[in-house]
Amino acid sequence: MTDNATKEGAGAGAAPGRIKLEDGVAWVHLDDPEKNVNTLSTRYFAWFEQQIQQLAGEDLRGLVFVSDKPGYFIVGADIAELEAFTDRAAVIAMIERGHRLVGRFAQLPFPVVAAIDGACLGGGLELALACDRRLATTAPHTKLGLPEVQLGLIPGLGGTQRLPRLIGVPEALDLILTGKQIPAKKAKKLGLVDQLCDPLALREAALELVSWGKPSRTLRPRKRPSRSLFSRVSDLVARTPGAKNLVYEAARKKVLKRSGGHYPAPLKAIDVVREGMTLPLDEALRLEAAAFAELVTSDVAKALISIFFTKNEVEGRARKLAEDARPVERIGVLGAGFMGAGIAQVLAYKGYTVVLKDRDHKALGRGLKQCHDLFRGLAKRRRMTPVEVKEAMSRLRPTIDYRGFGRVPFVIEAVFEDVGVKHAVIRETEAAGPDDLIFASNTSTIPIARLAEASKRPENVIGMHFFSPVHKMPLLEIIRHPKTSAEALATTVEIGRRMGKTVIVVGDGPGFFTSRVLGPMLNEAAWCLAQGARIDQIDRAMTRWGWPVGPMALLDEVGIDIAFHAGKVMAEHAGDRADTSPILGLMIEAERLGRKVGKGFYDYRKKPKRVAREVYELIDWEEGEVDDDEIVERCWMQMLNETARCMEDGVIENPNDVEIGVIFGFGFPPFRGGILREADRLGLDYVVGRLEAYAARYGKRLEPAQLLRDMAKKGRRFHRR
Ligand code: NAI
Repeated sequence: MTDNATKEGAGAGAAPGRIKLEDGVAWVHLDDPEKNVNTLSTRYFAWFEQQIQQLAGEDLRGLVFVSDKPGYFIVGADIAELEAFTDRAAVIAMIERGHRLVGRFAQLPFPVVAAIDGACLGGGLELALACDRRLATTAPHTKLGLPEVQLGLIPGLGGTQRLPRLIGVPEALDLILTGKQIPAKKAKKLGLVDQLCDPLALREAALELVSWGKPSRTLRPRKRPSRSLFSRVSDLVARTPGAKNLVYEAARKKVLKRSGGHYPAPLKAIDVVREGMTLPLDEALRLEAAAFAELVTSDVAKALISIFFTKNEVEGRARKLAEDARPVERIGVLGAGFMGAGIAQVLAYKGYTVVLKDRDHKALGRGLKQCHDLFRGLAKRRRMTPVEVKEAMSRLRPTIDYRGFGRVPFVIEAVFEDVGVKHAVIRETEAAGPDDLIFASNTSTIPIARLAEASKRPENVIGMHFFSPVHKMPLLEIIRHPKTSAEALATTVEIGRRMGKTVIVVGDGPGFFTSRVLGPMLNEAAWCLAQGARIDQIDRAMTRWGWPVGPMALLDEVGIDIAFHAGKVMAEHAGDRADTSPILGLMIEAERLGRKVGKGFYDYRKKPKRVAREVYELIDWEEGEVDDDEIVERCWMQMLNETARCMEDGVIENPNDVEIGVIFGFGFPPFRGGILREADRLGLDYVVGRLEAYAARYGKRLEPAQLLRDMAKKGRRFHRR
């Protein structure tokens, strides 16, 4: 068979791979010329079907799947194709076609090997699972996983059945329910791969696996890795029909705790594994197909898939923006406090040399310890070796003066949230640094243009708003003020990207985008309390709706003084719409500043935290008639209202940036697809009607933004779909 012969009949477009025959071994080179990565699609199915027909008739010693895409094997299914499905029957037909195809590879009369170098995810791993053997390289880019739950789906190409049969139910459930991606070494330990090799030795190692011959028809790996007694017993129980099954029950409890019951996919996965393990494989696969079809057409999967595309689009724009970045390897961080140290740690982890400055050695020592603790945590989880920790720590250069800043082209400032202090450090840094120094401030509320007033080169001043804790939170809000130069913006975006953050670029103004829209939501929650809702009622209503924490607990976390101060800054801007609840002021007077002092709306001095009843007395509270639905609606609609005003003001323009900001910044329920999608789903007419009704009862602050009114009138939506 020639390369050319393989290119025919693979459906529309060029063939997604090539087959080379060498010494009786068919090398299937996966390399879709139409994509940067290989994703399983109907085009792949058609090509495989055609190839397998011919291969089955050849006199072969073996077949090896390899990828020609550097860093990627197959990264999953073509999600755009999945998203287009609305009809369950069509999904089932597509999945069953995939099952048949994968099954045919499994039944070839010669050994079939997956030689994995790079990301092997979702459908890619499922194809590998159907192979007789799996070989994986030890390169850091080799990762294996079944991330389908993250899109509201379950594995649909046999993963829910072949994986537990191969590595045992408890371990398989862990992978399927978390969607985590594991390195090859861990996969070998689990028995998911049979052999490890260096990327350069992939070919020889694959041939060696072929030479092992065709294994017997069980799905067990050749050598079972050693597993704990607990794991073996639970696996045995999990495979027994009718047994009271602790493994599944425990998994279910864990899922419900983590997801609040808002995500059907993991629960479905548990059911499909549980039932499937008591059935022959072909019947079990039918269960999987039906469950997959149900999920892929559900609202939750549609929302989660939309976030996937939204994130890709936002990241693509950031990548483009960063093209004109100035190269930077050395970064100054001012302030080694909670945020400064967090930022410095991530920078050092990503390879930057960091000059970390604070006012005195004590503050520096605390900051360095914070960094070291974070690195130690990474080492404990085997994400870094002790040598790498040492190297990363040595990239941190602590100082209490500006010596060394002459060679620092980029500075991130995280000193106190005070205009005077920030102005002073801008002047000092500019005096000590190079002429083209870029100065990024991590202020959470102060307009960047206001900070730039102290600068000799306002075009090089920009906002870089991180979220806390910096090493965990995926979002970075970059703020350009009217004078910020394109180069300063590009350089800042590139640094954010290299730090591993999803970057949104927003316009200037008090609170920028994220703090500005969070404020009215927290204020509305405080008003609900003042009007007679209970503290725990508010938080429970909001978490039931899908927020990760309730607003009262969030106020305690942020610090009530900080929230109050931020609210004041933003209220100045809001003019006659500003209507700040009196509650925060009363809390501050009583020194109930939140978790940092052990008491706020909750009391943290004993575990678990409990609602602080004293607060009711303090605020002269009387039970009122604010029900859960009203709390939830008022809070999220106020956030939407402020979002619309940010759009009117040009602070944020692209609806995708809004969704990424609210979901990644403070956990707007992902299964709703974003705040604008939630508004689209309900209809802007409805939203405007509700806000008008609330405004009539509670005042001007709840009046719908003009943009919402206009869009509702014209029957428009934020997203096209
Ligand atoms: P922090 O109080 O923990 O740290 C501030 C640090 O700056 C202290 O170590 C202090 O000694 C140092 N500092 C003060 N003046 C200095 C100077 N002239 N030169 C060098 N160092 C100086 O405060 P935190 O929480 O780290 O906040 C820092 C900034 O980050 C603030 O602007 C804050 O609004 C912003 N921010 C805070 C977030 C949070 O969750 N804490 C989130 C996002 C932004």
